[in-house]
Amino acid sequence: MDHDAGHVPVMLDEVIEHLSPHPGQVVLDGTAGGGGHAAEILRRLEPDGCLLLLDRDREALERLKARLGRRGNARFFHANYCDFDQALDQAGYRYVDGALLDLGVSSLQLAEADRGFSFDRPGPLDMRFDRSEDLTAEEVVNTWPAERLAQVFREYGDQPFAGRIARAIVEARPVRRTDALAEVVASAVPGRWRRQQTIHPATRVFQAVRIAVNDEFGSLETFLDKIFGSVSPGGRVAILSFHSGEDRIVKHRFRAAARAGVVRLPVVKPVRPTPVEVQANPRARSARLRVAERLPTAGS
Ligand SMILES: C[S@@+](CC[C@H](N)C(=O)[O-])C[C@H]1O[C@@H](n2cnc3c(N)ncnc32)[C@H](O)[C@@H]1O
Repeated sequence: MDHDAGHVPVMLDEVIEHLSPHPGQVVLDGTAGGGGHAAEILRRLEPDGCLLLLDRDREALERLKARLGRRGNARFFHANYCDFDQALDQAGYRYVDGALLDLGVSSLQLAEADRGFSFDRPGPLDMRFDRSEDLTAEEVVNTWPAERLAQVFREYGDQPFAGRIARAIVEARPVRRTDALAEVVASAVPGRWRRQQTIHPATRVFQAVRIAVNDEFGSLETFLDKIFGSVSPGGRVAILSFHSGEDRIVKHRFRAAARAGVVRLPVVKPVRPTPVEVQANPRARSARLRVAERLPTAGS
């Protein structure tokens, strides 16, 4: 299978099974990234279906356009997925038959040192998915008060030493580079704890800063506020998350929609990757796939 420059799509078979894209349908890929899921969905929508591909990362979208744009049934939008309704309008559709979000950062973005997503690649503290937006990781790290940083580390990073790390960062300011931030974090946590961890102590701090810079939970909430109003009866929304806080949001919102009679949940527990996939692609390790199917509204 053709996977673009190193981003292997997570749980591809499971996503396809649950979205079940068919010829003639309209499907939304809100986080198109390297296009691994998108390429397979597109293939199944042919000859007359349409895939709307959104990404906040203009460079990623341009690469994807060069790769998949020759197919007449792909439409590309440099947009936040929470604004999917505007893309739908522009494309002239009222409803989609399926929608996918594959949350977080792509391997392509992690690999580019100048994007600042990775603690083990020296680069500027950027972390914006959309480089036309103002807020960068450098601004968060160097201007937010210690209490606000600690809250970010706790809420978005499940970080046990959030207060200590936040205070160490404030003392070390200015912190301008990814490697400098990783060092400050490593020196702020107790050595014994650090040695017991299987991941670098900066992993979760970087994840938390990235979530704050991009207001990732806010985008997800806004998407979930609107999406079921734009899915045709029988259409499915599939969301892949890699973070317990994100999965919690999806779980609660899907369950609330099920209680309200708007959707049914074809799988109650999240679908997890197989051990074989995790071995082949460690990035899949924490993936959880949740699915909701739109029920017909009364009278439709
Ligand atoms: C995990 S990757 C998706 C990978 C893709 N499914 C594939 O198979 O190659 C996540 C992508 O979502 C994008 N992204 C993150 N938050 C977004 C948002 N709120 N709106 C649109 N795109 C977003 C990122 O720029 C990144 O390219």
